[in-house]
This record gives sequence, C-alpha cells and structure tokens, in this order.
Amino acid sequence: MKIAIVGTGYVGLPSGVGFATLKHNVVCIDKDQEKIRALQSGNVTLYENGMEELFGQVVKKGNLKFTTSFEGVKDADVVILAVGTPPHPKTKEADMRYIYAAAEELAPFLSGYTVIADKSTVPVGTGDEVEKIIRQKNPNADFDVVSLPEFLREGYAIHDFFNPDRIVVGADSKRACDVIKELYKSFEEKTQILFVSRKSAETVKYASNAFLAMKIHYINEMADFCEKSGADIGQVAKGMGLDKRIGNKFLNAGPGYGGSCFPKDTTAMALMAQKYGVKMGLIETTIAGNKARKIKMAERIFDIVKDIKNPKIGVLGLAFKNGTDDVRESPAVEIISAMLEKGADITAFDYQATDNAKKVLLDKIKYAHALEDVFDDADVVAVLTEWEEFKALNIEKLASKMRHKRMVDLRNLFDGQYLRTLGFVYDAIGCVKN
Ligand code: UDX
Repeated sequence: MKIAIVGTGYVGLPSGVGFATLKHNVVCIDKDQEKIRALQSGNVTLYENGMEELFGQVVKKGNLKFTTSFEGVKDADVVILAVGTPPHPKTKEADMRYIYAAAEELAPFLSGYTVIADKSTVPVGTGDEVEKIIRQKNPNADFDVVSLPEFLREGYAIHDFFNPDRIVVGADSKRACDVIKELYKSFEEKTQILFVSRKSAETVKYASNAFLAMKIHYINEMADFCEKSGADIGQVAKGMGLDKRIGNKFLNAGPGYGGSCFPKDTTAMALMAQKYGVKMGLIETTIAGNKARKIKMAERIFDIVKDIKNPKIGVLGLAFKNGTDDVRESPAVEIISAMLEKGADITAFDYQATDNAKKVLLDKIKYAHALEDVFDDADVVAVLTEWEEFKALNIEKLASKMRHKRMVDLRNLFDGQYLRTLGFVYDAIGCVKN
C-alpha cells in the first residue's frame, strides 16, 4: 500500500520506519526543511532504540522517502496524521492548529479513495472537524477520516510498533475499515484489532493515558505511606502486581511521571470533560499531586545535605525516562529547576538527553562529559532517570571521589543494603530512610 505520514516526530518517524519495514511504500512529509534534508541524507533525527538500523534498510530498499511537499499524499491509500498537539500556551487544551493546517494543506492533493487516519492525540470530535475542513477545501475528494490512536512509548517505539497490545480503529464506514485491515494485515494473527466508533477511539487514547498516569500517582502515594509506616514499596508493588486484575506494569514508584504525553493528556482530558460538564476528580487530583511531587523531591535532595554549606549536588539522569533523549516535562529537569531556585551547585550526566537538556537549563548547571565527573567532590548524588546502565556502575570506586557518601535514589535503582555497607546515607522512594 502507499502510505503518507504527516509529521516526523516521535510518532510519525517510528511509524514510518515500521510500515516501510512491513513492505508498504511510505513517504513522510514534514514542513521542517532542515529535518527533511537530514532524513533524506540518511541521518535519523531522533533517538529510538533499534530505529537507526531499520531506517537504513528501508531507505536503501526505497520503501521510505521524505518530502516537505504535501504533494506526497497523491495516490496514497492511507494518509496518517502524526503532527504534534502540544498544550495551548494559554488554555492548556490540546493545540489543534497543526492538525487543522495539515488537513487544509493535504486536501487539494487527494486522488482516488483515501483514508485519512489520525494518530495524533486529539480531543473527541476532531475527526468531524478534519472531515469538514477537507470537504470544504476539496468538495470532490473521495475520503474517510478514521481515528487510529497510537500507544507507542518513547524509547520503545519500534518494539511497541511491532508488538502492540491492541490496535484500536475508530471508523464509521466499512470501506475505511477494509483499508485499515489491509494496512495491518500482518498483525491479524497476533494482535486484536478492535473496530469502534471514531469518537470512542479518540476517547480510548485519553482514557488509557489518564489511567496509566493515575496508576503511577497511586503507587507514588502508596510509597509516601510506606516511608512512614515501615513497609517497602518494592515489595508492596510486587504483591499487588501479581493480581492479574491490577497487573504488574506501571507500578514503579518514582519522582512523578513526565514526558510529552501524560502531563499533556491528563490536562486535556480534564479540560475536555469540564466542557461537557463532567467532573474528573481522580484525574484532577493526579495532575495536582504529580506537580507537587517534583517540588517535594527537590526538597528531599536538599534535606539530605542540609548540614552542608553550598552543597555540591551530582545528578544522574536528565531524560524524562530511560531509553530516550527527550526532556519534555522531565521530572529531572523540573527537580533541577526547583533546586536552582534555591541556588544549588549541580553537575549532571545523561546518556542521551544532555543536548536537549542544555536547551532548557542553559548554563545554569554543569554537564558532565563522563559519568564519573558527577561524583567528583559531590556531597550527594541524586538518581533522577531510570537508566538501566546506572545499575551496573562500580559504585565503590565512584564513591571514593565523593566528599560525602550520600545518595537520593528517586528511581530505586541501587541496592540500599550494599550502599550502606560502603558507608552511604541512602534515601530511596517508598522505604524508611537510614
Ligand atoms: C506514554 C504511554 O505509555 C504510551 O502508550 C503513549 O502513547 C504515550 O505516552 P511515554 O510518554 O513514552 O508513553 O512514556 P512511559 O513509558 O509511559 O512513561 C511516562 C512517565 O511515567 C515517565 O516519566 C516514566 O518514568 C514514568 N513512569 C512510568 C513511572 O514513574 N513509573 C512507572 O511504573 C512507569
């Protein structure tokens, strides 16, 4: 099939690589000339585990092409909209301008029957609006608009593309359903493809992300309780997760969730519900609690060095989670910013996200070239991102570089018992500090 994908961000590009790997002919369209030039010359513009290799293969075979022109949608069987819907700077609702602009610009180039599939996270009813825009711009176009919500996690986008838990299709026409069935033909055997109404599919995306955000907030509150009661959150989460009704995923307590999706989607969901006169108390509590948590985490790091004048703070991790270079709404960046307000001296290290963090934190902190530098004369080291690699560090050797052996492990990566035998004061989430 011929597929055009509008937008080459964290959803569009991995999806493009994925569909091209499945032997579809894919053209990715983006207005950003610099990005398209880079992609055309074979440079992958964002980090995703395993993507670079596949990218090279499909580009070489000619299955994946790039252009800045909306002419790229010509003859496409499916046009996938994967442009950003960031929070509107004033209203905080999903900003729809990129979706609507894409619909307007692609409309004149549609030829033959085309399914416009919306993969961006958009408010319920957006499909109706996109349909209206295209019809106005091109009254003769033969098309249907469907909702095809995306559940890719950053850092695992390629894995998730090929191994989805489910594929949800929101389509109100049989003709469109048949085209989408063809698009996902190779998934038929292994994955449930759920066909629902367009508005239901649009809601599934928000409802799922808000639920996961709530699950994280729940386990974080439970961690607060464990710290006071003497229980251990790791053991509690394990015990809970063995119940299949609860499930063992997304029960890792930490500094609060971040990223480009959960904060944005929970806010958009709550605002959308307000418009319909529905109060979403659980989601509102989650949003407020998650925000407050970052400030509490900054205070927690300060607390462990409160006896030291001008403490030197080392930070492990800047990305909003492991496996990505993304720092959007990163708990690490928010905690660092809160510490900077109190005049902290910070040196940070990340495997992938340093360049992006520099754009936000500028020269307000020092960026370690080598991980070891974080430990140099540090009074405390704070673990802010759950990079698996941190677990394998030779902590005994690194500790010898520190001025004081203190660690605040907000991702519970290290073995507290072992660290204490090395003389550390070790503070982790959801267990009693000692
Ligand atoms: C999320 C959804 O998982 C994905 O389905 C959706 O389409 C896009 O949004 P993503 O933002 O890439 O994906 O990251 P995710 O892995 O869900 O993590 C989000 C945040 O929650 C991170 O800050 C992460 O560290 C945090 N988290 C996650 C926890 O604190 N504990 C957990 O148990 C899981």
